[in-house]
Amino acid sequence: MRSLAILLLAALAHAQAQTLRGAGDKRGVLVGAAVDTRSMAVEAYASTLAREFSMIEAENEMKWAAVEPTQGVFNFKPGDTLAEFAQAHGMKLRGHNLCWHIYNPGWLAKGNFTAAELNALLRTYITTVAGHFKGKVFAWDVVNEALGESGGLRDSIWYNQPGTGLTGAGYIDEAFRWAHAADPAALLFYNEYGAEDATDNPKSEAVYELVKGMLARGVPIHGVGLQLHITTNPKSVSRGGLDANIARLTALGLQVQLTELDVRVPVDAEGKASASDLAAQARRYGEIVSVCLKHPGCTAIQTWGFTDRRSWIPKQYPGFGAALPFDFNFQAKPAYAAMLQALGATESTGN
Ligand code: G3I
Repeated sequence: MRSLAILLLAALAHAQAQTLRGAGDKRGVLVGAAVDTRSMAVEAYASTLAREFSMIEAENEMKWAAVEPTQGVFNFKPGDTLAEFAQAHGMKLRGHNLCWHIYNPGWLAKGNFTAAELNALLRTYITTVAGHFKGKVFAWDVVNEALGESGGLRDSIWYNQPGTGLTGAGYIDEAFRWAHAADPAALLFYNEYGAEDATDNPKSEAVYELVKGMLARGVPIHGVGLQLHITTNPKSVSRGGLDANIARLTALGLQVQLTELDVRVPVDAEGKASASDLAAQARRYGEIVSVCLKHPGCTAIQTWGFTDRRSWIPKQYPGFGAALPFDFNFQAKPAYAAMLQALGATESTGN
């Protein structure tokens, strides 16, 4: 009787000792979350983050508009704070991002700069920022979302409005070269949304062709970030389509990191989701984690936020929310259990 009680207590302690980061470490995959430094002042936010995750990334505070709000005046404080937090807790810091078509400061977006000036501005920015965070940021999203839905390069100040004076993907190549020169040890990623599923998807084709071309041109690129802002509908991103896409990208010798995972579900006026939607969401989280783990080249799984208290979803998709693995009060949701289970930390419950 006594030995049974001891066994049960040991099993309970074992279950409690499981964390996403612990389970991820055992499987050789980083488990990350997008964060903001203001929320880190909340004790439960900071402690959950440190306990559960092995990687962080600024949701907004390391984008150009935040880093250089006034030309020539750089604000590295939030990024430095994240670097310190990461170091203190044995985590990696992922950088997001160095070149994007939106969230640029007004002085840049509305500056009416010439192509030659934009080329120099991008080079200076990348050199300065990647240089500042050298040795602190282990991987950068160098270029973010440069492709349109039909697979062509998206209109932007960097490409054609007026552009940097370089043709085609030339500005992307240069951005990677400048980042590599500033921090040769950093892993450099191309990050994209809506390009997760290899099936019948011009954008995922275009990402594949883009990075294949970059490799052929000798551009220093080390990986592709697949964002994964998804729903419970398997048609949006299918298991097989994601699997095939990760397979073909990693076959190029590139890493894949799942960079912005969230699974939005319908919510009521209080932001609450139904139990059945939370169960479907959990299955989806488990499925995504399992697909990543099939591929040694899939090296990180990161959620876009981690608590339903801080998520971009309700604002962007009215009527939807509850997209993350922890609820408003930092309690683990079924999605969390499904992630742990897929990481092999807990036994299957048959769900
Ligand atoms: O910080 C200001 C605040 O001072 C002001 O009162 C408020 C008024 O609206 O705006 C706040 O800034 C907002 C910022 O998020 C912080 O909450 C911006 O308006 C808003 O545009 C910004 O949205 C972010 C968006 O990127 C644009 O940068 C989202 O939080 C962020 O989740 C989203 O993240 C992107 C990834 O970077 C790339 N992939 C897609 C993903 C989702 O859109």
